[in-house]
Amino acid sequence: MTFTGHHAPAPGGSPLVASALTKVYGSAQTATHALAGVSLTVHPGESLAIMGPSGSGKTTLLHVLAGIVTPTSGTVSWRGEDVTTLSEARRTVLRRQDFGFVFQSGQLLPELPAVENAALPLMLAGTARAEATAVAARWLAHLGLAGMEQRRPGELSGGQAQRVAIARALVGSPGVVFADEPTGALDQATGAEVLDVLTRATRDSGAALVVVTHDAGVARHCSRTVTMRDGRISGEFFAPGAQPASGAPQAEASQAAASAAVARPVPPAPAPPAPPAHDAATQQAMAAHPAAGYVPTHPTAADQESAR
Ligand SMILES: Nc1ncnc2c1ncn2[C@@H]1O[C@H](COP(=O)(O)OP(=O)(O)O)[C@@H](O)[C@H]1O
Ligand SMILES: [Mg+2]
Repeated sequence: MTFTGHHAPAPGGSPLVASALTKVYGSAQTATHALAGVSLTVHPGESLAIMGPSGSGKTTLLHVLAGIVTPTSGTVSWRGEDVTTLSEARRTVLRRQDFGFVFQSGQLLPELPAVENAALPLMLAGTARAEATAVAARWLAHLGLAGMEQRRPGELSGGQAQRVAIARALVGSPGVVFADEPTGALDQATGAEVLDVLTRATRDSGAALVVVTHDAGVARHCSRTVTMRDGRISGEFFAPGAQPASGAPQAEASQAAASAAVARPVPPAPAPPAPPAHDAATQQAMAAHPAAGYVPTHPTAADQESAR
């Protein structure tokens, strides 16, 4: 099974390619290196989980990838443009037209019914109200919310509200959906359900998904997981059956290693490879899916440097 066969890319899909990203907050004395050299390619239609301890730079990376935050150095290329150098006006349009967003909670407008909350991106983009709400209603039904179109957020459970947020992220047919801990405010069972809905619906739409999560079970839902530590990518692994997209730019050294790793014949009942002791987040994520193909990376400045 090929990667692209399992995760059909959007027609004309292009990768989102981040190169050598750094983000420094504060001045010399108080500097925080939120990103310390991250290169990452998000392939069309893939689902990518980003895991790692609090403060490791996950949200910063998501925001830089999505054009919300400008990096200190490095580039993010999307459909022939460097997102990091676009004007704020152009970035706003890009975020609205090409990207969808799901946050932890509290992102719905309390006074609007579910269908209008979901239709909002289309209406902001100038689609007529009747058409926008019709598209939104189809997505709500697809996500199991038929009959709840007129409920306001206060009349929905946490899981239902996140489904509305997912519908809203998808109505505009984005190229990439970004989700930052979308199940963080939910109990575990509801969170697993929402993650399942998010990954399946995003795949149905043809969009790529980048999801930041603490849920170690995420490997069951995503085709690839990268772990972060101290502003760097510390590990990467692929779900069984998912393979790195071929012919894509090999922006990071780990990509090449990944291709080699998954191309190797897999022996029957393989023992899970032992992750290095230094990366607890990777160990935790791998424990949720022992059959995944682990690709260690080396989060030292020298390795980051030689990867270019
Ligand atoms: N706006 C900001 N100003 C200053 N420091 C920030 C800001 N945003 C994030 N940081 C710092 O950057 C580091 C990475 O943060 P973040 O990307 O939010 O990590 P995560 O999402 O993995 O918890 C942390 O040390 C955090 O305190
Ligand atoms: Mg965060």
